[in-house]
Order: sequence, then structure tokens, then C-alpha cells
Amino acid sequence: MYYSQEVLEQVRSSNDIVDVISRYLPLKQKGSSYFGLCPFHNEDTPSFSVSRDRQLFYCFGCGAAGNVISFVMQIEGCDFVDAVKKLADWANITLPEPEFSKEAAEEEKIRKNIYDMHRAAGRFFYEKLHSEEGKTALEYIEKRQIKQNIQKKFGLGYSPKGRDELYRHLKSKGFNDADILKSGLVLENKYGKGYHDRFYDRLMFPIIDLQGRIIGFGGRIMEKGEPKYLNSPETVVFSKKRNLYGLNFAKESKKKEIIICEGYMDMISIYQAGYHNVAASLGTAFNIEHANLLKKLVSDIILVFDSDKAGETAALRAIPILVSAGLRVKVLQVPDGKDPDEFIKLNGSAEFGKLLVDAINYMDFQINCVKKKYNMENDEHRVLFTQEAAKLLSQLESPVERDVYAKKIAMETRISDSAVSDEITKVKEKTDKEFMDKAAIKRIRQYSETSVSDSMQNSKGIQQAQRNLIYLAMNHADVYEKIKNIVKPQDYIDDVYIRLAKFVYEACDKGKNIHPADTVNIFELPDEQKKAAEAFALRLDFESVRDMEKAVNEIVKLIKRTKIDAQVAKADSVEMLTELINEKKKMDNLYIKL
Ligand code: GTP
Ligand code: MN
Repeated sequence: MYYSQEVLEQVRSSNDIVDVISRYLPLKQKGSSYFGLCPFHNEDTPSFSVSRDRQLFYCFGCGAAGNVISFVMQIEGCDFVDAVKKLADWANITLPEPEFSKEAAEEEKIRKNIYDMHRAAGRFFYEKLHSEEGKTALEYIEKRQIKQNIQKKFGLGYSPKGRDELYRHLKSKGFNDADILKSGLVLENKYGKGYHDRFYDRLMFPIIDLQGRIIGFGGRIMEKGEPKYLNSPETVVFSKKRNLYGLNFAKESKKKEIIICEGYMDMISIYQAGYHNVAASLGTAFNIEHANLLKKLVSDIILVFDSDKAGETAALRAIPILVSAGLRVKVLQVPDGKDPDEFIKLNGSAEFGKLLVDAINYMDFQINCVKKKYNMENDEHRVLFTQEAAKLLSQLESPVERDVYAKKIAMETRISDSAVSDEITKVKEKTDKEFMDKAAIKRIRQYSETSVSDSMQNSKGIQQAQRNLIYLAMNHADVYEKIKNIVKPQDYIDDVYIRLAKFVYEACDKGKNIHPADTVNIFELPDEQKKAAEAFALRLDFESVRDMEKAVNEIVKLIKRTKIDAQVAKADSVEMLTELINEKKKMDNLYIKL
């Protein structure tokens, strides 16, 4: 589906990139740019920069780049059209009906087929569970004390022992092999021809998205064996990073908080115990996309983890991710080495309810974890504990909260309130300063790495040359006039730059001013957007016209020579080769004067 460039420009320009990104992560201003921790890779020093005048973001760490639409696509895990809709909504813009491109219509058809296949598979597994073949599975469910209404609500099923029963079932419903493979439900046989089911002889848990569609399955083995749980692979409709098991039910409960636990069975047990606002991670570590998804539904999270070391580590990892998404977080550790499912079976729902009420604030939890490492009777330990705690407290944005916790720490360590507060302030100032210094260093390093002549030696240089030439054409009318007949759009090497150059050259010819961020809008895929944004994310400054002239000549020659070499490799006649060689000679003698 697509919108006209005019509509896209309107949506883009009505949403300031700094404001939009600030909804998702804290940014600090430094000169004309803003910096923060990159939400697209793990880092402790900020290399994620946002430029208000260019309306682009760029990460010096992982290279993520784009405009406000690309940012929303990536952080929300949605496609181009959904990101545009969301931004239009924020800016109160009414959008025209989008139109389908041919490729998009094809893709949409495949997605629909995959949803349909999952629905058919869900029904198939459900029927198998209630057939003769499913007898042992049903006994297993009863042993695990899942009541009938809950079994039904969660659509539990059984994948039969035969190796290709689901495959044959899907074929009988008219799905073709290519689409069936894309669903991840079926695999190609390694040896010989044919296909086999991914899941067999397992208890099946359908994974349902917020729109109520089955997008994947978890399958539990019922005897001893590996793996205990088998999950659907990542497909065009399923991503473990973007979905949580049971979130569709938790959403219905319309509570202000959601309980997050670790496993399928725990989720179902907690739900059965009467707490319907519960979801589980799908065997992957908690990440920012989960947090953003939750933030759209609720303001509070209760993390429920097993009381072992692994549970504690998982909680400590999840906390900063949830907190940085702006969620209020509490932590509940199930006592006596039990998981929530075992605890509820042993002690009943009401006891579990008490644990929920007693869940502690995440900061208390983090401080308790630190405290376990130290002996409060030992002076040196008390100092170390205070310093480590101060580091945690310095991350609190609210001075009131900082003060409350400082008093708590002071009481525990018998150190004065003011000394604890001073320590926190000291740490806070130091980390704020480090944050900015490291950002500055990274920027300088990056800039020197991208200087034009340096990059000429490596193949990254060709990418850089293409984007630098487009940058120069768009920002310097005199450069454009000199190069437009030498390097035409089709002379660029990558398809993305060919399209980008066409767009920029056309605008230059018409004397139309384009905003750097709008050049990104001609692409719908994140990788293409990234390439386009990179052309404008960094500023290319030259000390003098002579320097710029030198750079332009180097860039033009590199692009032309690379293009000619590529054509030489493909040339199939002597005439063509001769012509190309002549052209290359012409290139050697070319000098563009600005
Ligand atoms: P039960 O033994 O059925 O009560 O499950 P559990 O949730 O207590 O199991 P466990 O604590 O071992 O695992 C917690 C979660 O991790 C599960 O619900 C799965 O999502 C995931 N998990 C466990 N084992 C495996 C495995 O072998 N492979 C994969 N991919 N995920 C697993
Ligand atoms: Mn368990």
C-alpha cells in the first residue's frame, strides 16, 4: 500500500523527530543534535543521534538511520503504512485511502494464507486432542490440572505422532507447498523429497496476536526429552521479540497492570487462578519491543520470576528495559524455589494473590540484590554498598523519589542522609558528563572515518561515494550543474542510490526544495530507508572550495570507474569493450572545476 509523496511529506513534517523519539527514550541536547541510548542495539554509552534541522536519526554504533517514519516502523515493529497512520493520527491528519502496489498485494496474499493455515492448524490440533489419538495428551493436561474451560479458552491441542499429518491436512485444504513452507509449520525433508511437520506428539499452545489471529505455536513434549518446549520459527507473521504469550487475553482484562511471567504453563496457571491480566515471554529475553507493546496497553508491570538465580538475573535484565519505556515496575519472587504454577497448585489462588499484593518496587528489588553481596557490619562493605546503591538511585528522574530512597539507604547503613544524597548527586553529575563526553568522542571518530579520501580505499568507499555525491548534488547547486551530465542516476551502482538520485536530480531540475528527511519517504523497507538517510545523516563540510572540488573529482571518478568495471565484466562484444575502455580513458583525463 502506498501514499503520495505530498501526503508523506505532510505527515513527516507535522511530526518533529525530536518530539516523537522523546516519546520513546530520553534524549539530551548537545549543540544542534540530541543524543540518547540507541534503542536498536545494546549499549551503555549514547551513540544514537537525532538532528532537528535534518529531521533524521543516526546511530554511530549500529548504523541505524532514517527519518521519523523509519523510526516508528523500527521501534513499533510495524510496516510503512502503519507507521504513517500512527504519525498522521498523532498530528491529527486525515489520510486518504492508501493504494496497493502490485508487490504489496502479493505479500498481503501470502500473509493472509499464513494466517489461514494457522487457523486450520489450530483447529486440526484441537480436534486431534479430543480424538482417540489425543488420549495421553488429554491425560497429561488433566494431570497438570488445567480445567476444561481454560483448555478451550486457550485452544490447547495435540500434534499427532504421524510425521506429515498436518502437512497433508493443509494440502487437502488447498494450500500450496511454497506457502506451507513459509508458515514454518512444515519443513522440507533433508534427505529425499517431501515434507514433514515441525510439531509431532506434543501438547500444542496456540500463540495469538492482539488482533486475535493465531500466529504460531508452542509445543510441549509430554515425556522426558529435548527440547521441552518447541516454538514456531520467526515468520512473516510471527516474531518472538514482538509478541507475548497470552497478551491477547491480558489485554481483554482491561487492568492497569500486566503480570509478566516466564512460561506457558505459568501463564495459564495464573490465569486459571483468576488473575487474567497475565502474559509470558516466549522463551526469549525481554526486549524494548516487548516493553513498547506493553506500554501501549498498561502503565504498570508486575514481573513474576522463579526464585532461583536465573529468575533473579532475568528480572534484573528486564527492569531497565521496562523502566526506560516509562512503565512502573514491581517484582514478585515466588518463594521456596517454586515456579508460579507449582506455587499455585501447592498453596492455592488466594496465597498467590497475597504475593501479588506484596510485590516490591523494582528499585527496592535492585537494592536488595546489591545488598546480598555485602555485610552491613563491615565498614568497608557499607561504603561499597552505598556507592553501588547511589549508582542505581542516580538513574531515578524524580528528585522526590531519589530523596525517599536516599533516606532508606541512610537508615540501613547508618550513614547520614546528606552524605548519601551527596554521593547520589556526585554519581549523577559524573554519569551525565560521561554520557555527553562519550557521545562527543564517538562523533568525532565517526567523522574522521567518513572523510572522503580515507574511504576511497575500501569497498565501503563506493557506498560512501554514492551517498556523498547525492548529498553534494542536493546541497550545492553548482556541484549538481557540473556533475548531472557526467554521473546520471543510472550511473549509480546500487538500486537504492539510483532511485534516490532520480528523486534528488528531478527536484534539483525543477528547482524544488526537498527536505533531507523526505528523501527517505520514497523507500518502504527499513534497509533502504537506512541507506537513504545515511546520505544526509552526516554533514559534509569542506574547508574551502578547492577541498570540495578535490572530493567531487575523487567521488565522481570512483563511481564511474566502478560502474564501468561492472559493465566490462558483463560485456559480451568487442565493440562494447572498446567503448567502455575509451570511456574509462576519458574518465582518467576528466577534471571537474567548480
Ligand atoms: P513446565 O515444565 O511445563 O511447567 O514448564 P516451565 O514453564 O516450568 O518450564 P521452564 O521453567 O523450564 O521454562 C520456562 C519457559 O522457557 C517455557 O515456558 C518456554 O517458553 C521456555 N523453554 C523451556 N524449555 C525450552 C526449550 O527446550 N526450548 C525453548 N525454545 N524454550 C524453552
Ligand atoms: Mn513449571
